[in-house]
Amino acid sequence: MAARDARSWAVRLRDVHRVYSRSGAPVPALRGIDVDVAEGEFTAIMGPSGSGKSTLLHILGLVDTDYEGSYEFCGRRVSGFSSDELAPVRNREIGFVFQAFHLLPQLSILDNAALPALYARDRTREDCFDTARARLEEMGLGDRLEHKPTELSIGQRQRAAIARSLVNRPRVLLADEPTGALDSKTAQEIMDILGELHLRGSTLILITHDREVAESAERVIHVRDGQIHDGVA
Ligand SMILES: Nc1ncnc2c1ncn2[C@@H]1O[C@H](COP(=O)(O)OP(=O)(O)OP(=O)(O)O)[C@@H](O)[C@H]1O
Ligand SMILES: [Mg+2]
Repeated sequence: MAARDARSWAVRLRDVHRVYSRSGAPVPALRGIDVDVAEGEFTAIMGPSGSGKSTLLHILGLVDTDYEGSYEFCGRRVSGFSSDELAPVRNREIGFVFQAFHLLPQLSILDNAALPALYARDRTREDCFDTARARLEEMGLGDRLEHKPTELSIGQRQRAAIARSLVNRPRVLLADEPTGALDSKTAQEIMDILGELHLRGSTLILITHDREVAESAERVIHVRDGQIHDGVA
């Protein structure tokens, strides 16, 4: 444990509760969650459908702020932040990858990948596009820059979405079933890319239903009924 204590933490959740309400009735989705992920760690989250995995990821990604409990992101207690304080952290320090890609269909993948950089408003337009182009080239999409998402294969779409998630050089990359819509060969390609990012130092937190995908992670967090069950499949 001494080595772990010496590392800095990317995320630390303490006693996090999230209750949705449906037609006025409370739906408890997370019930007292503690999570520690060190910087540079690759963690998988597994659990049955409806157990609270996406809810947890939305809180980690600062998208959902409607929770009880404390959240420290890279040393800052973000659970006390206003929405104005959260926006730059979410935009510049967190990257998202989704099962269904969430690329804007009317835009080229170059425009899609540049968007988070343009939103951050801390670089010139030219620099945003140069970085987007570089990330897409790294994903093997240098000859597809002007293609719209529907003009690409499914695996290429996910690679474009990964390029977009990296455009602001996030400290933490969050992925909600990134291989869930892919065949096994394409899923392996995407896992190789994510594994490579981890080797280069990215902190990776990934939800998956796939045991093989989870095996590439350093650690698996099991969620059941809104609670963590470590070491239980
Ligand atoms: N917006 C919402 N309003 C009300 N209840 C919700 C809402 N979103 C999720 N829930 C409920 O919260 C619980 C956790 O949902 P969540 O989406 O986090 O599950 P999950 O583990 O990601 O499931 P899956 O593997 O199917 O994606 C479920 O019981 C779900 O029905
Ligand atoms: Mg989910």
